[in-house]
Amino acid sequence: IESLAKNGRTNFISFKGVFLPEDYELIADAVENFEVRDDDVWVCSFPKTGTTWVQEMVWGVTHDSDLGNSREHINIRFPFLEFSGTTSFARVARREQVTDVPSWVPNSVEFCKNSSSPRHIKSHLPFHLLPRQIRNGERKPKIVYISRNAKDTCISYYHFLNSFEGHHGTLKQFCQLFLGDKVIYGPFWDHLLGFWGKEDMKNLLIIKFEDMKKDLQSVIRKTASFLGKELSNDKVLSLADHLSFTQMKENSSLNRNAYLEFIKSTNFFGNTECDGGNKECEGKFFRDGRSGQWKTVMSPEMIRRFDERIETILNTHKDLQLYLS
Ligand code: A3P
Repeated sequence: IESLAKNGRTNFISFKGVFLPEDYELIADAVENFEVRDDDVWVCSFPKTGTTWVQEMVWGVTHDSDLGNSREHINIRFPFLEFSGTTSFARVARREQVTDVPSWVPNSVEFCKNSSSPRHIKSHLPFHLLPRQIRNGERKPKIVYISRNAKDTCISYYHFLNSFEGHHGTLKQFCQLFLGDKVIYGPFWDHLLGFWGKEDMKNLLIIKFEDMKKDLQSVIRKTASFLGKELSNDKVLSLADHLSFTQMKENSSLNRNAYLEFIKSTNFFGNTECDGGNKECEGKFFRDGRSGQWKTVMSPEMIRRFDERIETILNTHKDLQLYLS
């Protein structure tokens, strides 16, 4: 925690059981009272589970695979609800009173509110922190939730924080934080359980990163059917092509390369070593894109500790086997 707190330059709070930067309190009421629309489409997830991949898939489906429209930056067409309260970029911009930042940075909730329907909204909040109107069923937007193997998520999160948030530390230290439920939006397990427990909600679809890797076209079809869209075979194929790792990596509306350049060139976080100082940090948003990287990267001891934790969860939720193993 100290390492995160020092390098992320923030204090953390436990907000209704969720590990969050203290700035979350600045927007908590606005999120709770956010006016949801029935024709919204939400993508919800724990960070690094493939959120951007699903956002782009959902966008492609709702736009009949007409991807000409997807040139606009993802944070504009598919804004991130609580960005202002949870990211280092927003925090530093606010503290340093940086004004030359995109409009979703200072007030992401307002930005979402002012987007025109049908809105597409991303959130990493666990179910119990989503706006009240979603929780109590007063509004029923379509929600797509993506889950990913815990160990791979942890590795991806580690690299992301090193590259994008000015975090330093070893993978081993980060795994300990992850297992100690001391990473932003943690505990990871509760996040999954919160949505899993709502599986009977007709407006919720839960998908897996690993299924997208195995058979992307099937997941596209399933998502289209959930969103009430019919896509021709050709459109499914062209969307699958657009969603390939290689294509997404080159897509400037998705890859955050401009952002990385900006934080490096302005030394935005003061002491970031992501320009090569940290060997483990590859400094790319689309980094590896594989399933099972943990098998080669995590120590046997760390794998054992993850497995023990997973075992305790499976003791009470056997049906989660497919999602956690
Ligand atoms: P890795 O760090 O393991 O490469 P999020 O969008 O939730 O932050 O998730 C980012 C993770 O999803 C990264 O994982 C990224 O590479 C992976 N990802 C995004 N698009 C992908 C794609 N088209 N194919 C495979 N993996 C993808």
